[in-house]
Amino acid sequence: MQEDHLHMPHEFTTLAASSMDTATAYRLLCGVVVPRPVAWITSISADGVVNAAPFSSYNYVAHSPPMLAVNIGSRSGGLKDTARNIEQNREFVVNVATMANMEVMHKTSAEFAPHASEAQALGIELLPSQQVKPPRIAMSPVQMECRLQQVVRLGRLNTLYIGEVVAFHLSSEVYDGKHVDSVKMKPISRLGGPYYAALGEIFLRPTLQTPPLGNTPAQD
Ligand SMILES: Cc1cc2nc3c(=O)[nH]c(=O)nc-3n(C[C@H](O)[C@H](O)[C@H](O)COP(=O)(O)O)c2cc1C
Repeated sequence: MQEDHLHMPHEFTTLAASSMDTATAYRLLCGVVVPRPVAWITSISADGVVNAAPFSSYNYVAHSPPMLAVNIGSRSGGLKDTARNIEQNREFVVNVATMANMEVMHKTSAEFAPHASEAQALGIELLPSQQVKPPRIAMSPVQMECRLQQVVRLGRLNTLYIGEVVAFHLSSEVYDGKHVDSVKMKPISRLGGPYYAALGEIFLRPTLQTPPLGNTPAQD
């Protein structure tokens, strides 16, 4: 029987989170909440240094107006460059991480000094944004210009930055004027570190719920 595995009893390890150390909680969350999309964020410091770094604790959180949220952890008790820049000038750009830019994106996660630009050090080509100061990453097929909406401090170590998308830039290689072709976009996702994954098998099922306001049924 093909579905036998559905009836196999699992053996569970149960861990109370209250007595768990931070490293264990982090390891479990990163292993369980997968696959995570990767926001390759460009931001700019008060003195104009362009910063680029990846963040996978990230998703879209609203669509009217469109909003994205990214969670940035603290580093040695202080803010990471991206977090400091976002708090200072309230703008950032989310560039989509893909198979084509994975290697260089990964390198931008190294700890560069605050005054050093990852973009400059790694020769990342930038494009000007339209409505925000931080530039876009040219090799990313989709970039979203964002303006900070809310800062939510979470527990002892994390801060959630919620940004409103004020402009989408979509390459004709992945966008036909209506839909983004995720297969062509080749997004990469983060699994428990240090692993990434490409898109796997894709399944088509008709949409069963009422589509969000403004959408036409099924394909949207
Ligand atoms: C794929 C990937 C995903 C990451 N996701 C996060 C994240 O969601 N939150 C976070 O604080 N750090 C995350 N990091 C670590 C940051 O990229 C790293 O701390 C980086 O040095 C921050 O750069 P910055 O100081 O220039 O902002 C991630 C690293 C990688 C490689």
